[in-house]
Amino acid sequence: MFDPAVFAARRDAYMQAIGTSGVAVVRSLPERVRNGDAFHPFRQHSDLFYLTGFVEPDTTLILRPGAETERVVMFVRPRDPELEVWDGRRAGLEGAKERYGADAAYPAVELNSKLAELISNTEELHYSLGLDDEMDLKIAHAIARLRKMERKGRRPPRALVDPRAALHELRLRKRPEELAALRKASQITSEAHVAAMKLGRPGSFEHELEAVINYTFRKAGGSGPGYTTIVGAGENATVLHYIDNRCAIADGDLVLVDAGCEYDHYTADITRTWPANGSFSAPQKRVYELVLSTQKSAVAMAKPGATLDEIHQFCVRSLTEGMLSLGLLSGGLDERITDLSYKKFFMHGTSHWLGLDVHDVGAYTKDGKARPLEPGMVITVEPGLYIAADAADVPPELRGIGVRIEDDVAITADGNEVLTAACPKELEELEAICRGRVRQA
Ligand code: GLY
Ligand code: MN
Ligand code: MN
Repeated sequence: MFDPAVFAARRDAYMQAIGTSGVAVVRSLPERVRNGDAFHPFRQHSDLFYLTGFVEPDTTLILRPGAETERVVMFVRPRDPELEVWDGRRAGLEGAKERYGADAAYPAVELNSKLAELISNTEELHYSLGLDDEMDLKIAHAIARLRKMERKGRRPPRALVDPRAALHELRLRKRPEELAALRKASQITSEAHVAAMKLGRPGSFEHELEAVINYTFRKAGGSGPGYTTIVGAGENATVLHYIDNRCAIADGDLVLVDAGCEYDHYTADITRTWPANGSFSAPQKRVYELVLSTQKSAVAMAKPGATLDEIHQFCVRSLTEGMLSLGLLSGGLDERITDLSYKKFFMHGTSHWLGLDVHDVGAYTKDGKARPLEPGMVITVEPGLYIAADAADVPPELRGIGVRIEDDVAITADGNEVLTAACPKELEELEAICRGRVRQA
């Protein structure tokens, strides 16, 4: 948990970006029923967490940079000793003011009656429309109410501004405390991947590896996986978002694990692919080496001034070249890139922003062009090759092989820091870890 000053500094920066004519409304997402009367665990909306560190549901933050008083207003659940016995402690109105920096705090149920006044007579309303129908309706009603009050000196904001414009630009460039959280998340995640490599063997189940990974996250103080852990053995590795994790691992399978620990609300995102029996077969080795050399060169390209598009185009070229030499494709390199036939085996992008969300916020283009990387941005680099078990016209020995290698990379002033460097990916290293475990068995 960061120092409250960290959140105050973020709010200040955001209010400065909004300007004195704007107002921002940031709302937690609704709690979701899992089944019956059981709920999914609540996880604070990343925008709201970023600005407050407040983790309770039914919370609304209103930032009013132009106001003389009550610039930081929070609507929260009030203290309720009876309910707190069942559902846990609440910060309440006092806590919101004393510990979370609100100038004023009101009970959540008063949002409807106070919202119109709090956003009135501003020019731009920064609000994330389309995430929560109930809140969208509250905003719409507040605007409608203000339209009728013009003669009384109250008018609605003139424009609705998406948080991408200001807030997400701030979230895109990570400050030192955010990089520290990402480093910690990456370190725990690396340990979890190694634990899975040591445990996994022919005959064990994908869900056993999921269990040791998620256990490692929680044991180390993480909140759990930042996204659902993927453990795909054999041809399951060719299904990009395979989360069933229920199959037995067979001798000769490669195991693809894509898992990231969330720590202090920041998530890592690592993929490793390794041989369950401790030895890559010759065809597996050819595919792995192709993806690894591509990935390492792509990581080296990640520095200020480069663009994610350039890095991706490099991976496309390198992998397509490899597909031609593996016999997955035929013809000329430029031809196969232009007709997109490489997408049969490499169908996803190479990178995304990483931070509070696994696919973190931040615009990917600026002025219609791919935006240059800057120090403080954190990205993944994750090329892969996936050859479906039923792929036609490919060498039979390559069918059912899926390989992805994914690291998390922070852009620095003169290059980058691979946050996930501790997670082994060299072929010999992986074999040694997996073989060590086989000998111990
Ligand atoms: N784990 C999701 C991704 O790699 O994008
Ligand atoms: Mn990723
Ligand atoms: Mn991933």
